[in-house]
Amino acid sequence: MSISELFRFNKKESQDQNCKKDLNAIFKPRGVAVVGASSTPGKVGYQILKNIIDCGYEGEIYPINPKDDEVLGKKAYKTVEEVPGDVDVAVISIPAPLVIQTLEGCARKGVKGVAVITSGFGEVGNVEDELQLKKVADKNNIALLGPNMFGYVYTPSKLNASFGPADILPGKIAFISQSGALAISLMGWTAMEKIGLASLVNLGNKADIDEKDLIEYFNNDDNVDAILIYMEGIKEGRKFLETEIKKPVVILKVGSSTRGAKAAASHTGSLSGSDKIYEGVFKQLGLLRAKTFTQAFDWARAFSLSLPKGDETIIITNGGGIGVATTDECESQGIKLIDDSKWLEEKFRKTMPDFGSTKNPIDITGGSGMKGYQESTRIALQEDRIKSVIILYCETAVTNPIDIAKTIVEEYKKVNRNKPVLVAMVGGIRTTEALHYLNDNHIPAFSEVSDAVSSLRALYKWQEISGRKKEIPKIEPAPQEVVDMIEKIKGVGRSILLEHEARKVLELCGVPTPKWGFARNIDEAIDQAKDMYPLAMKITSPEIIHKSDVGGVVVNIRNEQQLKEKFDKMMNNVSAAMPDANILGVNIIQMVEGIECIVGMSNDPQFGPVVMFGLGGVFVEALKDVSFRIVPFGKMEAGRLLNDIKAKKILDGFRGVEAHKPSIIQTIYSIQRLAPLVKEIDINPLITNKDGSFAVDARIIL
Ligand code: ACO
Repeated sequence: MSISELFRFNKKESQDQNCKKDLNAIFKPRGVAVVGASSTPGKVGYQILKNIIDCGYEGEIYPINPKDDEVLGKKAYKTVEEVPGDVDVAVISIPAPLVIQTLEGCARKGVKGVAVITSGFGEVGNVEDELQLKKVADKNNIALLGPNMFGYVYTPSKLNASFGPADILPGKIAFISQSGALAISLMGWTAMEKIGLASLVNLGNKADIDEKDLIEYFNNDDNVDAILIYMEGIKEGRKFLETEIKKPVVILKVGSSTRGAKAAASHTGSLSGSDKIYEGVFKQLGLLRAKTFTQAFDWARAFSLSLPKGDETIIITNGGGIGVATTDECESQGIKLIDDSKWLEEKFRKTMPDFGSTKNPIDITGGSGMKGYQESTRIALQEDRIKSVIILYCETAVTNPIDIAKTIVEEYKKVNRNKPVLVAMVGGIRTTEALHYLNDNHIPAFSEVSDAVSSLRALYKWQEISGRKKEIPKIEPAPQEVVDMIEKIKGVGRSILLEHEARKVLELCGVPTPKWGFARNIDEAIDQAKDMYPLAMKITSPEIIHKSDVGGVVVNIRNEQQLKEKFDKMMNNVSAAMPDANILGVNIIQMVEGIECIVGMSNDPQFGPVVMFGLGGVFVEALKDVSFRIVPFGKMEAGRLLNDIKAKKILDGFRGVEAHKPSIIQTIYSIQRLAPLVKEIDINPLITNKDGSFAVDARIIL
């Protein structure tokens, strides 16, 4: 398959049925049917109907029950088809064997969305019925959530079609959760933490609607500012990669440890591939990966703020220690604090006593009351030069935290929420009340300074991501000469390219290599080596994999004399060690010095061809400091891949050794041309120095 065919294939996948499905039927329905609505408290069908009624859904509600004429005071119908009015969505909570026929009935009624609560499908091995559900849904253009889910909530429609709690705080975060139990528990927690939700959707088995469909729906929903996803694994990797990201998406992906990945696989039957590859996927898509639930919600909540219009940040505090801690955190998270002491003195001196500090953090001191906070906050909000504000407060007896909170809210309203303001307050019960007051008024407020800083960092990160130029990778197929070479090698039954073949293939695809040659005998070697010294010489034989073990590698050959001697010695050593090996000749390669990198490509079961980059040696072996991107990606993305690794500073020049980034990017970008032709590429090392980068050794598996 050629690269272009590979991409066409991907495209076809993305144009799946779901694009045509109308998720408004689910989230903004005119009428809702609850199939399996029950009058028996404690039953799932009872609770769902009760939640729909209690949470104030204003459309028509139709309980469906074969025995009762009325459920929870609402007229009931025996089937969905009997309902006289429009039913846009049906929430199905009846035993698994009855679900398919009910879905068919929904289709006849013209229902366009269903949420199948019922368990007993793919998660217990009943794949056949799950596929049948998807088939019926696709045939009738029905958007299907679940099965095996606890329901969903959409607060703008006052619709709580779940058997979770009823107390949800309306807001602008859409929370998509693969786990049902977790989402149910977080429903209560978000209300307690004053986190407002526009929607909460439990994906269940994702037979039809998945993360991509929901992200793209919420992209165009004005009721949603930010999307938060709890993910255990992705079913269709390639489809997910094509998700259009228009709003900040915070992702919490669990299963990064080996045991965690196994637990995730047995939980929802999802494939949990290498966490490093997921990390690459998230980066490539521009998702913000959080480490914990609280961090994920902190970040999502911060997106109710306007994005900063520049990078100069100010910290206002009444406590020195908390100010220092925040400064440390800002530095480690790359948040730039305004450093112009003259300007700061001029602007803020009047807001504090003489012993206060106008160096950033602006320390208005512990004795400062309301006035100090009011004046400093006002200046910080009104001065154009200041692009984002962190306000800190340590509880004291001279100030009531709730008054401080009210002042901040008031001042912020006056300037129309013109720039991001985040607050961290440390103290007791009164401080907790103040934090709630701020959060209720859409000013993200935290009891830990690091949470405020990391949330501000999320805003900056999203600003950078959303400002990126769109890059459509145009990767040429490999040249015909490469295709022919590979066909020929396959034709003789070989699946591993010899070293000189691998280097040739890479070179033809645009990967820079050092000067090199392949010589069948010493005369050819002498001839080719003329302008190559110092050079390395390696034996070439299909039977010899570990060349060094049989004396088949010599480095630092400086002249013709040494070349002759080493050549003879190598032939003797190799023949003695492996008398039956078919020796084809030697590779001679100019020695290059510089930073050792590793570039590879392999096939991931979920995402297909992936490219890896890292520094070589200890960085890759002991520290696993590598990062991935999924084919295809453009050169700008390849550049970002370089910046992912922890040891990236070494690439910026270290102890007089420089890297040549453009040629590393060229290498990473070019090997994608081989994606449809090979299984695995391992360029190790790619040596980079100020003059360029060179694929010194490479292994290609077909
Ligand atoms: N149409 C309409 N109603 C019907 C039909 C039908 N074809 N057939 C039966 N019913 C009625 C029943 O009469 C009953 O009503 P009743 O109480 O008035 O008699 C109601 O539908 C429910 O049927 P039951 O047979 O009583 O089923 P039950 O409520 O015990 O279980 C359920 C159904 C909840 C769907 C169950 O099969 C199930 O899958 N439970 C697991 C749900 C779950 O946990 N989902 C994942 C959540 S995610 C998480 O992790 C929390």
